[in-house]
Amino acid sequence: MIKEITAQELDVERFINEKVKEIKDTVGDGIAINALSGGIDSSTVTMLGHRALGKRLKTVFIENGLMREGEPDQVARFFLNLGVMVEVIDARKEFFSALKGVAEPEEKREAVTQTFYRNVFGRIVKESKAKYLLQGTILTDVDETVAGIKRQHNVFEQIGIDPQKTFGYHIIEPLIQLRKDGVRKVGEALGFPAALFERIPFPGPALSARVIGEVTPERIETVRRATVVVERLLKETGAFQYMAILHEDRVTGMRDGKRDFGQQIEVRCWDSVDARVATPTRLTFEILEKLAGEIIREVPGIVSVTYNIAPKPPSTIEAI
Ligand code: XMP
Repeated sequence: MIKEITAQELDVERFINEKVKEIKDTVGDGIAINALSGGIDSSTVTMLGHRALGKRLKTVFIENGLMREGEPDQVARFFLNLGVMVEVIDARKEFFSALKGVAEPEEKREAVTQTFYRNVFGRIVKESKAKYLLQGTILTDVDETVAGIKRQHNVFEQIGIDPQKTFGYHIIEPLIQLRKDGVRKVGEALGFPAALFERIPFPGPALSARVIGEVTPERIETVRRATVVVERLLKETGAFQYMAILHEDRVTGMRDGKRDFGQQIEVRCWDSVDARVATPTRLTFEILEKLAGEIIREVPGIVSVTYNIAPKPPSTIEAI
């Protein structure tokens, strides 16, 4: 059992000092490696690791082809400004070939997980001679995986997988006792600007969790363009999380006076504190109409836009 530290009881300074020391003690004079996605969890882990190990922490950004518009560059630049070197590794081909023909949600997650940990990361770790992987797993990831709801891509030991045996490296998880609200407090104390620690959550499998059915470069591009619109228009709502989802079903629409058997985007916008339960935000019809108008205009092939009104549970925040 992992002992939870709630955001209310979290003593941020003490937590940071303890974790920095733990990382130092565990890694000794060795090398550790971590993958940064730019989200609050992996960013916080990067700074804790950087404080503990300095240059002995190698931070990589894996360009899996599934990230949002401009994300790899933005993340690398942001950390460079904080004095942390981030190496961007292009692994797009590997991810898309692993996802080819895969439509079932758990198989999709498994394809992303295996490509990430075994192929791409396995290779980088081997080349770097690092024995430790720092990772931003939080308690909600563990809960949902153990409960069999969703296999979060970064959970291993709690479901009986020994990363040392399976992948050849140890995993250090400094945030595992926290939930999202606790991580945000730590990020704030580490000096991240509000723009970063207030960023909405984004899942490990990235946009592949937002494509129903097969994930192809074209379908990712569609959901990526819709995501730009959704994030721009819903930023001001202050909602916990918002997203675009590309459906597999097509519907008849019309464009330029002609029949168009087109694609559908579902918009979700959630009010939540820690992602365990969530309710759809009561957006005004004006915003909903704006979303529809801009998505149809800016995303080729979309003829239908819907808004999700079902709460979690029984829905989940992401669609797969
Ligand atoms: P769900 O969809 O399980 O999401 O209600 C809960 C929160 O976790 C974020 N998140 C993930 N969700 N797979 C997921 O399905 C992942 O690997 C993952 N990583 C993070 C999700 O965005 C939501 O905030």
